[in-house]
Formats: sequence, structure tokens, C-alpha cells
Amino acid sequence: MLRYLTSGESHGRGLLAILDGLPAGLKIDRDFIDSELKARQGGYGRGGRMKIESDRAEIWSGVRDDLTIGSPLGVVIRNRDFTIDELPPLTAPRPGHADLAGGRKYGHRDLRNVLERASARETAARVALGAVAQLLLKEFSIELESWITSLGGIPVRELPAEKRRENLSASRLGCPDPEAEAKMIELIDRTREAGDTLGGVFQVEITGVPPGLGSYSQGDTRLDSRLAGALMSIPAIKGVEIGTGFAAASEPGSRVHDVIACSEDGICRPTNRAGGIEGGVSNGETIVIRAAMKPIPTLSRPLPTVDLQTGLPADAARERSDVCALPAAAVVGRGAAALELARAFLEKFGGDSLAEIRRNYSGYLEAGKA
Ligand SMILES: Cc1cc2nc3c(=O)[nH]c(=O)nc-3n(C[C@H](O)[C@H](O)[C@H](O)COP(=O)(O)O)c2cc1C
Repeated sequence: MLRYLTSGESHGRGLLAILDGLPAGLKIDRDFIDSELKARQGGYGRGGRMKIESDRAEIWSGVRDDLTIGSPLGVVIRNRDFTIDELPPLTAPRPGHADLAGGRKYGHRDLRNVLERASARETAARVALGAVAQLLLKEFSIELESWITSLGGIPVRELPAEKRRENLSASRLGCPDPEAEAKMIELIDRTREAGDTLGGVFQVEITGVPPGLGSYSQGDTRLDSRLAGALMSIPAIKGVEIGTGFAAASEPGSRVHDVIACSEDGICRPTNRAGGIEGGVSNGETIVIRAAMKPIPTLSRPLPTVDLQTGLPADAARERSDVCALPAAAVVGRGAAALELARAFLEKFGGDSLAEIRRNYSGYLEAGKA
């Protein structure tokens, strides 16, 4: 079974991550892992921290001569600002952050003990492991892409895949629509001046997925519930939809369900409103997921709170913070989805080596053609 754990505080020594259950023989492209880490750090609207961080994944274990050897893969990402022991205590919990609930749970008076781990710095570790999961999936021509579809209420036009990719390569926000992006940048600037923050929606698409991943037989084996859980596990994600999602609820069935038709190659689906999953099982179409991110909870013009030390009204704590981290969340989103999809893929085709998985996979595809 593919499983992982991460550890590390935002201003601690660094992040540790272990990915267990990878087959032997997978080529580890370190440049790709670092390019995903770099993408997470980018995007207009990020705070000062991104100038300090310059993440690089150090692979500590599980790899020899750039190939996995079947043992757990260990990764370290060092923090450039290892200052945890010099930072002042925090007693004014920020509305919308984990400070108050986490402090009550663990009995912390200094809420720094909460925020150091609740901080989305942790997502860098998941991006590194998610990149490894993407490398595994790529071996089977399964590719993940993500981009933002709205920011602060500004929608992004839908574009053909080629145009979208071309525009994305020049984008500062992971936004494929230059007109929308210009408005978004303006809005981010105005929001920063107002001391406020923004959220938005991003989309993850997964192409090349074979039919048959996940299962309808138990709720927790359904691929849609698993992918939704993976996306919802990212801090600040408050909604996830698959295919047409919430919009399907207000349409009649005849305008929601994808008809099943014949083509020269066999069965085909002229539309993909289901987003590639029916009955909790991948149906061979592109998997389409969207995730809604709430605005960042740390405001430079802080919201009212109560200082837990004095019991008196106070301004919420201010930390160095992002105005909008949606572009970064979109990168984390593809990593989190890749980890869950790779887990489902290995459940079905898993073997101890890449060669064994290839045999299992091609046998399955051959049998499907018969
Ligand atoms: C990539 C990314 C970056 C984030 N950056 C910040 C930040 O700079 N400041 C902040 O207050 N919250 C930030 N957040 C959101 C908080 O981590 C999140 O709101 C908090 O942990 C509480 O969890 P919840 O929103 O899921 O309830 C970020 C989230 C992501 C995914």
C-alpha cells in the first residue's frame, strides 16, 4: 500500500517526509520534484516568506543511481528561516486559522505551538511526495495538470487545452486567461493595500486514467470520495466538486448524465460531465476536480479576537503572510491528487517492481480489448 507521513514546523529545522510502498525501478527525476516545489512557491500574491524559501528536496533514502529500490523514500526540505526558538509567543488567535481550536485541543498557552504545524508550510513536503507519485503515474501515461478557474470572484474563460497550456507557461498566477489574470493582479494589489486577503477556485485534471480504479463496494473505496478527501486535506480548501459537481444539482438528469455511444474504437462518451468517475470507479474519461479555497486567515488589518492571556478583546496576531495563495494551492492540489490516484493505481496493478506493474497493467488493458 502506498502511504506517507510528513513532519516539520514552519520555522523549525525543516520538513521530513516518507513515502512507503513505491515499487523498485522507478526513475526519480530530481529536477521535476524541485520544479514542483518552485511552482508552489511562486504566484503573484504570496508573502515575504517566499523570498526567503527556496525549496529543494534532498532525497535521503530509498533511491540508488536515481532509481527507487523498493524501500521507503525519505525526503528532507530544509527551512531557510529556522528561527522557531527566537519567535515571540502568540496569544491572540486568528479567526479562521487553527490557533484557537488547536490550542484548546492540545492545551497550549503559546499558540505558536499550533500554528507552526498547522501552517501550510507542511504542503511543501506533500508537493515533493506528490511529484514522486506523478513520476510513477507518468510511467503509465497518466498526467496531472492544474490551474486556477476563479480568484476573488473573477472567473477564468475556458480555453482549448493547447491554448491553455501555452498561456499557463507565461502566467504569474497559474491562470490560463490573460485578461482575467490582469484583473486578478489588480484585485490582489488593491486587497493587499486594504490589508485583506483572497481565495478562489482551482481545477485539477487527470488524463490517461484507465477505467477501473476505485470501487463502488464500500464508501471508503470510492475514488471520488478518496480524491475529494485528498483535496480537502489541503489547508483552506472548503469545497470540492467532481465533474459538474454542484451545478448538476439544479439540472434535470437528461442534461447531466453522459450518454453511452458506439464509435469505431468501441464504447465512447461524447460528454464528460461526470468528471471521469461513475459509481466511485474511474470510467476511462479525464478526471476533473475543482477545489474552493477560502481567503487566507492572517490579515494585515487584523480581525477582532480575544487575547487568551489577558482575556480582553485584541487584534488577531499578524504573521508574515500571503494575500492570496491560490496558485500555490493549485500546485499542492495536483500533488495531493497524484498521491491518492497512485495509491488507487497500485491497489489495482501493484507489484514490487515497475516491470511487474507494467505486466499487470498491460495484461489488464489487453483483456479489456477482448
Ligand atoms: C499554499 C497555502 C499557503 C497558505 N498560506 C497562508 C498564509 O500565508 N497565512 C495564513 O494565515 N494562511 C495560509 N494558508 C491557509 C491556512 O494554512 C489555513 O487556513 C489554516 O491552516 C486553517 O485551516 P483551514 O482553513 O482548513 O480551517 C495557506 C494555505 C495554503 C494551501
